[in-house]
Formats: sequence, C-alpha cells, structure tokens
Amino acid sequence: MDRASTEPLRDGHGREIGSLRVSVTDRCNFRCQYCMPAEGLPWLQRAEVLTFEEIARLIAILAPMGVSDVRLTGGEPLARLDLPLLAGMLHGIDGVDDLSLTTNGYLLERHAAALVAAGIGRFNVSVDSLQRDRFFQLTRRDALAAVLRGLEALSAHPEAHPIKVNAVAIRGFTEEEVLPFARFAREHPYEVRFIEFMPLDADRSWSPSQVLTGKEIRAAIHAVYPLEPSPREPHATARVYRFADGRGQIGFINPVSEPFCADCNRIRLTADGRLRTCLFSLAETDLRAPLRTGASDTEIERIIRDAVWRKELKHHVNEPGFVQPARTMSAIGG
Ligand code: 5AD
Ligand code: SF4
Repeated sequence: MDRASTEPLRDGHGREIGSLRVSVTDRCNFRCQYCMPAEGLPWLQRAEVLTFEEIARLIAILAPMGVSDVRLTGGEPLARLDLPLLAGMLHGIDGVDDLSLTTNGYLLERHAAALVAAGIGRFNVSVDSLQRDRFFQLTRRDALAAVLRGLEALSAHPEAHPIKVNAVAIRGFTEEEVLPFARFAREHPYEVRFIEFMPLDADRSWSPSQVLTGKEIRAAIHAVYPLEPSPREPHATARVYRFADGRGQIGFINPVSEPFCADCNRIRLTADGRLRTCLFSLAETDLRAPLRTGASDTEIERIIRDAVWRKELKHHVNEPGFVQPARTMSAIGG
C-alpha cells in the first residue's frame, strides 16, 4: 500500500524535524509596519492557495514521520474562511498531538470558542503595544480594544493553555512598552514574549540597529521586577523567566542576537504549497504541483525528505552579504 513511512524526518545536519508551521493565507487585515506596506501586497489567487484537503493530506504524510506539532499561521489565519473546520480536520490526524494558532487577534473574540472546540490547544496572539494610538501607528489599524477582547474571550476557555502574547521588539518603539507589558504579564494569565525584529519586512528597511535585543529588555524589566530563569524546554525558541515573586512569566525570542538554529526542528509550508526549511530560505520546494498532478504519498514523501535533508545549517542575518528572502513574513508564515 502507498503509505508514508514512519522513519523520523531528518535533515543533513542530524536535526529531527518535529514541527510544521502552515500558512493558510497570505492575506491580512492588519498592515504592521514591520511586515507589510500600507497598501498591502499582491495577494495569491484563490486557486493558488492550498485547499484544506491538500493541507490535511500533507500533514497526514508528515505526522507519521514525527511531525507532531502543527501551528497555523498566515498572513492572518482567521482571515481564511472556516478555519475551525481545518483545525478539526488536522486535530483528527493520527500523530498530530499539538495543534496551535498564531493570530493578530482581531477576529478572535468571534472565533475563540469554535477554535478551542476544534482542537486548537495553544494560542499566540501578536500585540505590539498596549496603548491605543501606538498600536494604531504600528499596525495601521485601530484595533487594540478588539484584540484585548479576543484575548479575554480565549482566557474563558481553560483548554486554551498557555496563551502567549507576542510583541516584536523594535528599537525606538518598544522601549516604552517594556514595563507596561511586564505588568500585563503579571496581571493576566498570559505569557508575554518579546521577539527581536527580523529582516523579513516588506519595506526592506530593517537594519541591525533597529533590533531591541532581548537582553536589553530583560535588564530593564529585571531592574523593576526581578526575574529568575526558568528551565529551557527542548527546541524552545524563547528563553523564559519567572518573576521572582511568583507572579507570572515572560519570554524572550532572540533570533538575531542569540540564534537558536542549532536546535531548530521546524519546517514551514506557505499558503501556495511551498515547503521552506528556514524562515530565511532563498530556495523553496513546490509541493502543490505534485499534489495536483497525481503524485502518490510515497512520491511526495520523497520530495519532502530530499528538501528537508538540505535544511540550512543556520541563518546569516548577522553576517555581511546576508540576502533577505523575496517573501516577507506575511507570505511565509511566522
Ligand atoms: N520580525 C519579527 N517578528 C515578526 N513578525 C512579523 N514580522 C516580523 C519581523 N519582521 C511576527 C508577528 C507575529 C509573528 C507571526 O511574527 O508579529 O507575532
Ligand atoms: Fe498581518 Fe501579522 Fe503581518 Fe501584522 S505581522 S501585517 S498581523 S501578517
């Protein structure tokens, strides 16, 4: 019978791949400064985007190889109609034991219950400012109140755990947000994480000087609310710290200042069915054409294994000659 094998999915550097991020759409209802231009981007045509059945088929091939952790992203994943339906389909696949979602939260209030019911266990919600006008400035949408309502709706579901709040850390902007976010993490059941700004912006205006490092933010918080390191989980991208008085925790994702490539167990699928083995990949592998031209599961498995074998050793963001990929974050999936 034509079935994908259960041999672990490995790259040529000895890393076992256990995690897939699936971008379900390149569209978004926000226009974050660090991600998209104000006028948006040329969107994919509907026919170019993988159907739910195609996504489910790929995941049914990957799960037996040990890819047990599946995260839905975008663009904005909730901009895709019927996302809970896809979540339910993926939740039912043998071997998928951790299904999660990264969202900007704008439509979360409306969909939280259906997403939890469909089997999404973990949620990351992007919030870059806790002040209405600054949130508007950064996302170009006056939507902070809606996002905070979405978070609240989610926290009414004990199954949705943990709830993470991600803030991109940009020098010249985020400094003012650091202590408010620390207090937010202490007052709510959310783990706030700061993500260093990466060169995946549409405007290509990134420069190393615009990265507010996790170390700087941690020092600023520690001076007011002392922090203690929590043990590091395998493959975790965030360095997590507890508040010494026991009131919550806060994390730092430092891909620029402290790359974690050596331990990376991730691959990514774009909305148009390209497999990417690194956020910063310059080459990608088309899975849509084989899906649509009658390839068997074994054939698709071979294409995936070949591509993953060539997974990049590391990114080169900090090196001279670094080349930013053609796709921006919204077209890759964060
Ligand atoms: N650098 C760092 N994080 C980014 N995100 C989007 N673009 C960038 C960037 N250039 C974040 C979003 C979201 C996640 C999908 O990635 O804010 O939290
Ligand atoms: Fe949309 Fe996320 Fe990009 Fe903001 S960062 S524009 S929410 S895809």
